[in-house]
Amino acid sequence: MGKKRKKIGVLTSGGDCPGLNAVIRGVVKASISSGQIEVYGIMDGFSGLIDKNIIPLDWIKASGILTQGGTILGTSNKADPFRWPKKNRNGKTTFADVSDNVVKYIEKQGFDNLVCIGGDGTMTISEKLSKKGVRIIGVPKTIDNDICGTDITFGFDTAKSTATEAIDKIHTTAMSHHRVMVIELMGRYAGWLALEAGIAGGGDVILIPELPYELDKIIAEVKRRSKTGRRFSIVVVSEGAKPKGGELTVKRKIKDSTDPIRLGGIGNKIAQDIETNTGLETRVTVLGHLQRGGTPTASDRILATRFGVKAAELCLTGAGGVMIAVRGNDIVTVPLTDIAGKNRTVNKDHPLIQVAKEVGTCMGD
Ligand code: F6P
Repeated sequence: MGKKRKKIGVLTSGGDCPGLNAVIRGVVKASISSGQIEVYGIMDGFSGLIDKNIIPLDWIKASGILTQGGTILGTSNKADPFRWPKKNRNGKTTFADVSDNVVKYIEKQGFDNLVCIGGDGTMTISEKLSKKGVRIIGVPKTIDNDICGTDITFGFDTAKSTATEAIDKIHTTAMSHHRVMVIELMGRYAGWLALEAGIAGGGDVILIPELPYELDKIIAEVKRRSKTGRRFSIVVVSEGAKPKGGELTVKRKIKDSTDPIRLGGIGNKIAQDIETNTGLETRVTVLGHLQRGGTPTASDRILATRFGVKAAELCLTGAGGVMIAVRGNDIVTVPLTDIAGKNRTVNKDHPLIQVAKEVGTCMGD
């Protein structure tokens, strides 16, 4: 008699990013190729385990999606089984722990493993579900690149390229009009996206959350440039940047989200400060969700495919409680317990900060 085939569920959770479909494709195709695993897609993140919304994934469903942004499975950044939002009749939202129901559903479906593709929030939920006996393989995604335990997440490279292209385009109009152009990028509490796209796009000022800025330094740099022949300046600002001794700029709070704070608005604040203090015409571009869309870069496609294939391999071994990660050129695993609830931010003495400063970039500190 042949060995019983394993059954696994795949979900994408949290904010989307380019490369999610490439991971799904990798898991499905490697599983089918092994001849030992059948794969089901869980719809809209952890919601699918609560609403009981799953679909079989075959070779055809996983074909033609390598280059597609977004996720064919849908996602949610509100669906936390440990804090499941419910709207009451009076319109108020309350939260309930429905994780036991989720575990029962997973057992009933006969899933040997779940592959949870997501960011830090997803890894934290995955770690808690692992403690309840669910065998989980985490796969790190995010344009923020802020997940602990891995050198890089997929989605980051594509967002960085998109942001760099935008900075390049803004450069030409800044030069023509001799203006100060402020570009606000995403990244939450980590400055990776602004730092790397800022360097790649030749930003004159780069502001990241890890280095609180002094307005005087920015003003001095912008004035110096306007007087010394380069009559324009490009200011790349991370949405989490803040002044020394000051607060983060919060755009809104989304109560039923697993991470309610939405940053945004620091670009406008800085632009106003620059214009008031220099008299130079200043404009702002907030790149927003453009950074999360589009077709993944070649690097992200390769990384996502490696992650997907590794996830299938791990499911075959019966592993669980781990996140797949990159260390140098190797794909490794790290225990979910080591990374849950943590964030990876830019070290204040990171070599890239040094490099930026050595080519004359003002980091505002
Ligand atoms: O974590 C990814 C991210 O795009 C952050 O960079 C940004 O702060 C946040 O998600 C935006 O979330 P939402 O899509 O809920 O507005």
